[in-house]
Amino acid sequence: MKLLDGIYTRRSVRQFTEEPVSDEQVKEIIKAGMWAPSGLNNQPWRFAVVKSDEAREGLAGLTKYGKVIKGAPVSIAVFVDREAMYNDVKDHQSMGACLQNMLLAAHALGLGAVWLGEILNNAEKVRELIGLPETLELMAVIAIGHPARSDQKSSRKDMSEVLLKEI
Ligand SMILES: Cc1cc2nc3c(=O)[nH]c(=O)nc-3n(C[C@H](O)[C@H](O)[C@H](O)COP(=O)(O)O)c2cc1C
Repeated sequence: MKLLDGIYTRRSVRQFTEEPVSDEQVKEIIKAGMWAPSGLNNQPWRFAVVKSDEAREGLAGLTKYGKVIKGAPVSIAVFVDREAMYNDVKDHQSMGACLQNMLLAAHALGLGAVWLGEILNNAEKVRELIGLPETLELMAVIAIGHPARSDQKSSRKDMSEVLLKEI
C-alpha cells in the first residue's frame, strides 16, 4: 500500500468479524507505533495488549464504547511513561504520532482499528485493571480486528477553511 493511499483510505472501524488477529500482526502494529518520531527520541510510549475474554470484558465496562471493545479480538492500551517525559506538550504530541502510526499500520495489514479516547474518563481504572503503576498515564485504547464492513464514510473540511495563509 502506498503511504498516501493508506492515509486517505484509513477509516475508523468499529465492527469486526470473529477472525483472530495474530500475535505477529499485533507486534507489527506496536512496532509501527514505536517508530513514530519523539522529542529527543525519548520514546515515551508503553503498550499493553488486551486479548483475553476476561480482560476485554473488564475494559469494555470502562467506556461507553464497550461494544466496540467486546467486538474486537484485541485491543491495545497505549500509555505515556511519565518518568520518560521531558516536556508535556511535546511528549503528548509524540504519543499522537505513535497512535496514528498504529492506526495506519493496522490499515496496511488489512485490519480495521479505531482510536478510543472516551475511555480516558476512566483512565485510572484502566491502569488498575491492567495492573500498571501510577507512572503510566493512559493516552488511548485502540480496538483492532478484521473489518466487518468496508463502507465507512468520513469527510474533512474544505482546505480553504483550515489553510489560513500563504505568504
Ligand atoms: C483523540 C481521539 C479520540 C477519539 N475517541 C473516540 C471514541 O472514544 N470513540 C470512537 O468511536 N471514536 C473515537 N475516535 C475516532 C474519531 O471519531 C474519528 O477519527 C473521526 O470521527 C474521523 O473518522 P475517521 O477516522 O474514519 O476518518 C477518536 C479519535 C481521536 C483522534
